[in-house]
Amino acid sequence: MSVITVPQAFDEEELYVDIERIFGQALLLKCEGFNFAGSIKLKAAAEMVAAAERDGSLTADSVLVESSSGNLGVALSMIAASKGYRFVCVTDSRCNLATRLMMEALGGEVHVVAGREAGGGLLGARLDHVRRLCARDDRYVWLCQYSNPGNWRAHFRTTAPEIARSFPRLDVLFVGAGTTGTLMGCARYFRNWHRPVRMVAVDTVGSVAFGGDPGRRMIPGLGMSMRPPLLDESYVDEVVRVEEADTIRACRRLARSGFLFGGSTGTVVSGAIGWLERHGTHGLTSVAIAPDLGERYLDTVYQDNWVQDLYGDDPLDAPRRHPQTATSRSSMDSPL
Ligand SMILES: Cc1ncc(COP(=O)(O)O)c(C=O)c1O
Repeated sequence: MSVITVPQAFDEEELYVDIERIFGQALLLKCEGFNFAGSIKLKAAAEMVAAAERDGSLTADSVLVESSSGNLGVALSMIAASKGYRFVCVTDSRCNLATRLMMEALGGEVHVVAGREAGGGLLGARLDHVRRLCARDDRYVWLCQYSNPGNWRAHFRTTAPEIARSFPRLDVLFVGAGTTGTLMGCARYFRNWHRPVRMVAVDTVGSVAFGGDPGRRMIPGLGMSMRPPLLDESYVDEVVRVEEADTIRACRRLARSGFLFGGSTGTVVSGAIGWLERHGTHGLTSVAIAPDLGERYLDTVYQDNWVQDLYGDDPLDAPRRHPQTATSRSSMDSPL
């Protein structure tokens, strides 16, 4: 039995879904959606708040403010409610309605910004708004998930050791990249482990996190319109990029087997399955991280009209292979 007094005290650490039956490749999905914030962002939020409390930047009359596409905003709303802080989330039009309502239900204040005409895009507009709030009231405390080392340290201290404990013979880890906090925390941990682990970053086509051309991205969570300040590519062995249509296809295929996961899980699964198909690697222990569950995406990824309007009928058709571009980042190029 688990009995808790604060919502952040509970997080499922050991749940994996074996999706070989669904996709025909041996891959275990680490489920990060089973906590009261509903996503992996609980870990980063808890670590960053604790660090700000320790160093004295966060005090009783502070107002927490953060730019988030949603999940970190929910996690911070929850922690702020539990600890008695005020919290303002600055988001944009891509934030799902359910996510926004959840933040408000938890007592968070949500500011939705519109895009900028010249450069910077939605993220630039969000960051400008946060800077304006901080400039006009010194009670505002911006944790800044994009550059805060607590973001990657959370995963170095929790996510990676959890995987290591469950899979002492891990070979490959697939991690979706947004701020790259999850990726960098896991990559730093496994760099000094007792055996080499191939770190494969999964990004969305249209994201410029690892270079490439900017493009339309409608599914929140993964991808960045700037280079992530936390990213150190020397820790990343390979990057695979996934089209959003393939993300939707993977999400829907999982859902038709009874597993309703969030959008970024579809991206990571599509990227990982494509990688496993290309490498033909039998006997490998491969794990991918599933950052959240699917309820927040019912009116987007799982809504036929939304999908048809943006991507046409294609993603609604029968599943197909997992084409994607892959880039090697290190000398670990030999097939495993
Ligand atoms: C659903 C989802 N997936 C993936 C990520 C990316 O995680 P990270 O920011 O650690 O790279 C996020 C981050 O907000 C997310 O909300």
